[in-house]
Amino acid sequence: MLIRRLRGLPAHGAYKEDMKMLEFATSLARQTGDFIRSRSASDFTVEHKGRIDLVTEVDKEAQGRIVSAIEKHFPDHGILAEESYSKDGGSGYTWIIDPLDGTTNFVHHLPVYAVSLAVYLQGRPLVGVCYNPAAGELFAAEAGQGATRNGKPIKVSATTEIVNALVATGFPYRSQNLDQVSARFFRVITQAQGVRRLGAAALDLCYVACGVFDAFWEEGLAPWDMAAGALILTEAGGRITNLDGTPFDLERGTVAASNSLLHDAILRCM
Ligand code: IPD
Ligand code: CA
Ligand code: CA
Repeated sequence: MLIRRLRGLPAHGAYKEDMKMLEFATSLARQTGDFIRSRSASDFTVEHKGRIDLVTEVDKEAQGRIVSAIEKHFPDHGILAEESYSKDGGSGYTWIIDPLDGTTNFVHHLPVYAVSLAVYLQGRPLVGVCYNPAAGELFAAEAGQGATRNGKPIKVSATTEIVNALVATGFPYRSQNLDQVSARFFRVITQAQGVRRLGAAALDLCYVACGVFDAFWEEGLAPWDMAAGALILTEAGGRITNLDGTPFDLERGTVAASNSLLHDAILRCM
């Protein structure tokens, strides 16, 4: 608080803008997600960013719509968006945007993908929204105010034993230490009730937040995969750290997320 005052920055909650940002982000995620869904049965071009890392013209158009709406309404806000766009607005606020999380699913017509929007102030999350248009599910959170799914409060599961846990993960799109990835996967499948790979990290975090999954881990992620989901999870009572158990850092690219109760058990598998 003191540092914020000294820097002349607004303290979170002292700024009425926060509520407006949540409403704005919710409406923008809905509009963009509905646009993405409307294109799912159409022809669209698909390009490779890496061997298996895809981007479609729908990702790009969705991002263009999001960026122009934010620039119009919040011209002094910074932006960090997946499809090669970033700017520093000078205000300390940054929108972290994944216009379409789950592009591979979208390309294969698997209806598990989402628009993920978050607002951070000087590195701290204020607002997170994640919308899966195919399921009609909108997850949202504002710092200190709890998390919701379609407007109703959500909380993490009460599962205490890993043998009763449904755990989600993802496999890296870019080269990582695959022996280590496999070893972690092996340790979890031999202990948990089940393991799922949805293909949309933002939704994995939301499904831990609402108690569908009990935990989630992955490595090789980018800030836009996790920025909204991390706030939604913690506002729902969950815990998030780096895979080594250190305080969560969006830039590190690794994530262990849980209902809090299972966190140590998941970390032990890592
Ligand atoms: C991907 C998804 C996937 C994860 C990948 C991400 P994208 O995001 O979140 O679940 O395993 O690492 O890149 O490319 O579909 O936005
Ligand atoms: Ca993503
Ligand atoms: Ca994406």
